[in-house]
Amino acid sequence: MAENFNVRLNEAKYYTPEASCREQSWIGDYNRAYQAFLADPDGFWDSAARELEWFQPWDQVREWEYPHARWFVNAKLNITYNCLDRHAHSQRRNKVALMWRGETEDEERILTYRQLLQEVCRFANGLSRLGVRKGDRVCIYMPVVPEQIVAMLACARIGAIHTVVFGGFGVSALNQRIRGTAAKVVITADFTYRRGKAIPLKNIVEEAVVKAPSVERIVILRRDAEKPVEIHPEMEVDYHDLMNGVGRECPPEPMDAEDPLFILYTSGTTGSPKGIVHACGGYMVGTYYTTKHIFDVKDSDIYWCTADPGWITGHSYGVYGPLLNGATCLITETTPDYPTPATNWDLIEEYGVTIFYTAPTAIRMFMRVGEEWPNRYNLSSLRILGSVGEPLNPEAFEWFYQTIGKGRCPIVDTWWQTETGMQMLTTTIGEPMRPGFVGKPIPGVVADVVDKTGKPVPPGTGGLLVIKEPWPSMMRTIWNDDERYCKYWDTIPGCYTAADLAVKDEDGYIMVIGRSDDLIVVAGHNIGTAEVESALVSHEAVAEAAVIGKPDALKGNTIKAFVILRDGRQPGDKLKNDLTYHVRLTLGPIAIPSEIEFVRSLPKTRSGKIMRRVLKAQELGMDPGDISTLEE
Ligand code: WTA
Repeated sequence: MAENFNVRLNEAKYYTPEASCREQSWIGDYNRAYQAFLADPDGFWDSAARELEWFQPWDQVREWEYPHARWFVNAKLNITYNCLDRHAHSQRRNKVALMWRGETEDEERILTYRQLLQEVCRFANGLSRLGVRKGDRVCIYMPVVPEQIVAMLACARIGAIHTVVFGGFGVSALNQRIRGTAAKVVITADFTYRRGKAIPLKNIVEEAVVKAPSVERIVILRRDAEKPVEIHPEMEVDYHDLMNGVGRECPPEPMDAEDPLFILYTSGTTGSPKGIVHACGGYMVGTYYTTKHIFDVKDSDIYWCTADPGWITGHSYGVYGPLLNGATCLITETTPDYPTPATNWDLIEEYGVTIFYTAPTAIRMFMRVGEEWPNRYNLSSLRILGSVGEPLNPEAFEWFYQTIGKGRCPIVDTWWQTETGMQMLTTTIGEPMRPGFVGKPIPGVVADVVDKTGKPVPPGTGGLLVIKEPWPSMMRTIWNDDERYCKYWDTIPGCYTAADLAVKDEDGYIMVIGRSDDLIVVAGHNIGTAEVESALVSHEAVAEAAVIGKPDALKGNTIKAFVILRDGRQPGDKLKNDLTYHVRLTLGPIAIPSEIEFVRSLPKTRSGKIMRRVLKAQELGMDPGDISTLEE
């Protein structure tokens, strides 16, 4: 772990945005803001929370019983009241909240705050009609359409816990999430549209609920009016029918600050994916504060976060954070390289996007196809660029900064996780930016790079990224598995371990190098090695499987699988295709291995754990490191 990173440190350089960026920003001077936080951490979060509306104030800002925290103790709130009513009852009443674009120009919908509030209330009343109550789990498996966001907010309105499943996941992943949360209702659509093709979602849901006895009803948004899919009334109900005759008002359920708001699954290192639980009050304050101060959202902004709400970025910065700030948000069902690689630039020009938040994998794809695509469009509306999900390598930073931002727009490369709920590290607006480095902990966060004993490492030496103090939007537990939650806090005593390797420079800027565990980030999506392996092993020809991530210029990583066949099965291209197809059906297209190699044995520890890092080292021609636990 104590690898030396001096070469990269020496090469790095800084870009300093114009002074006006900082002067006009909410955050202002970073050092001053950070010192103010350190001087009074509780007071800092107290004043952030006071900008929002609560039904009952807190007795105490935080209560820390390591490793469990409670924030805004005994306060009552409803996040949708702050996302919607607060604006609908103000000057922002007729301000646009959501602008949705489908794959073609004529597919557009626009909702003001007043309209969005009504839609949410009507759907919330519909859900209540189905018997959904506070604390019930509702699974949302939908394309990026306004109804997806309406469904999330409607759950929150009545205190139901939503669990959004990305529409690219297949049957088994969906089934696992429905069973894991014992969801009562599943909300889906007939189709999602991608690259001009209609991809059926309802069929996947039908298969996924077969072994999920908790499900009582399935709500289906029928988008294809010409050939409406059939509704089986014993179980299924049409999205719009559900709202027939319901009122346009629905009082917000008063939620305790610690009540769960949602569960979002993220892939784990071993075993099943983890259901990360976020709580109403702290999550609200954390996403509100960061959206305002990291993106510097103002009333005149047109804000676009390209992430699907199926991921945490979509939850925090596609839905809750911007709506809490009364922003005008663009959401799209588009694919960045369809019909041309100019789709995003076209949309930025057309909607006048000012804040653009995307992922390094997309930026690298745009780089590959060349700057002639963005150069055809007027991107002068842009004022702030953001990146998240993987390290933004210096080449991609420069390209984003020069070609898209024309050297004018600060880039906030934000480091955070599903577990953290909100952005944790970045270079705040107006501060000098160092390509390849995310920057420093934001005001509100205490973080460092440490060795295995928890001691801070000197500049240039690799270590583990840790968070040293609780923060409002930290996950509260892992659904049905608090023990697993506690593990995050006991690898390094007293610290939350992010499982990322990082290195600091002389100025305290942090570079995130990658995961220290077994997650593979493919095109910005987290794929657990365990999930892909278990999908492979579920094929009748496979005895054992191990998968690793291989660095890839475009996707960040690709998946390579090593497969041991059952006796009597012959390796061959036909079988490779079968296995690929099998993974596609079980986990979805994002988890497909790009290489499959048939092997006779796998490196394992004495206790039988596959040593993926040995496979990886072999594959990449690197030193495998400590192999003392390797089986003979
Ligand atoms: C990685 C996404 C480098 C990291 C919000 C983290 C990053 C994991 C960055 C969490 C960044 C996220 N630079 N790496 N700016 N942002 N990561 O849960 O490995 O989908 O632990 O949350 O993505 O992924 P998750």
